[in-house]
Amino acid sequence: MSYNLLKGKKGIIFGALDSNSIAWKTAERVHEEGGTFVLTNAPVAMRMGQINELAEKTGSQVIPADATSVEDLQNLIDKSQEILGGKIDFVLHSIGMSINVRKGKHYTDQNYDWTQKGTDVSAMSFHKLMQTLYKSDAMNEWGSIVALTYMAAQRVFPDYNDMADNKAYLESIARSFGYFFGRDKKVRVNTISQSPTPTTAGSGVKGFDGFIAYAEKMSPLGNATAADCANYTVSLFSDLTKRVTLQNLFHDGGFSNMGVSDEVMSTFVGEE
Ligand SMILES: NC(=O)c1ccc[n+]([C@@H]2O[C@H](COP(=O)([O-])OP(=O)(O)OC[C@H]3O[C@@H](n4cnc5c(N)ncnc54)[C@H](O)[C@@H]3O)[C@@H](O)[C@H]2O)c1
Repeated sequence: MSYNLLKGKKGIIFGALDSNSIAWKTAERVHEEGGTFVLTNAPVAMRMGQINELAEKTGSQVIPADATSVEDLQNLIDKSQEILGGKIDFVLHSIGMSINVRKGKHYTDQNYDWTQKGTDVSAMSFHKLMQTLYKSDAMNEWGSIVALTYMAAQRVFPDYNDMADNKAYLESIARSFGYFFGRDKKVRVNTISQSPTPTTAGSGVKGFDGFIAYAEKMSPLGNATAADCANYTVSLFSDLTKRVTLQNLFHDGGFSNMGVSDEVMSTFVGEE
């Protein structure tokens, strides 16, 4: 259902790789709600991904940008304003990558070149993006910037590896930069802490099937899907959440406040 929540709003959406991507679902929902946007992804991902299909479907243009390159980000932000015809109202940072995770390198045996690369892509890119938007004065007042994160930033999930540290850094950047963006430009900055979701990035985490099944059993409302996340993001881009900022917002069917559920407990106790 469409409520026209984003009518007249213009944005940039990072990270739509394929139709499972959270950013893909978000782009579809934003389009339904009347928003217009530029799609972007790393040049290498564009060769593998199906982003042109999404662009066609949503009437969007695609501008490649490596989110670790300030030069690429500047080009993206300049060109997006030309294409969209003015300043930006919403930005989705839906980017994550760990080479240690991908190559099965254990947290206690890191390859630090890979760790650094993962930090740059998954966390520092968010600072680079916001600094480029801020310095270019590219955001409209009451605009909204959202990045996606995971609860391993607060609690231990052993197989999440160095991505846990990257997410903690990402969430901190949201608060620190969010202060200046709010004070100086009236722009809000939040992170959404999403349930485990079957995507390319998610499924790369060791033991993902167990991970997602456990979260499903622990959460009173069950895991939030990528489509649910798209809806939540639309609400954060809309004018209905104008004074929500500097928050890490759990979007996980209640998982983050659970100790144990009956369903999980029942696997540990015998019949009485
Ligand atoms: N899937 C999950 O279980 C889950 C849970 C919580 C949070 N998240 C977060 O959601 C976000 C989106 O991931 P997803 O699950 O949709 O997976 P995905 O693999 O579909 O998306 C990750 C995206 O990051 C992009 N990317 C990687 N390096 C880049 C670079 N240098 N420059 C620009 N883009 C780059 C990839 O091309 C890809 O499009 C990530 O931040 C992820 O950590 C995912």
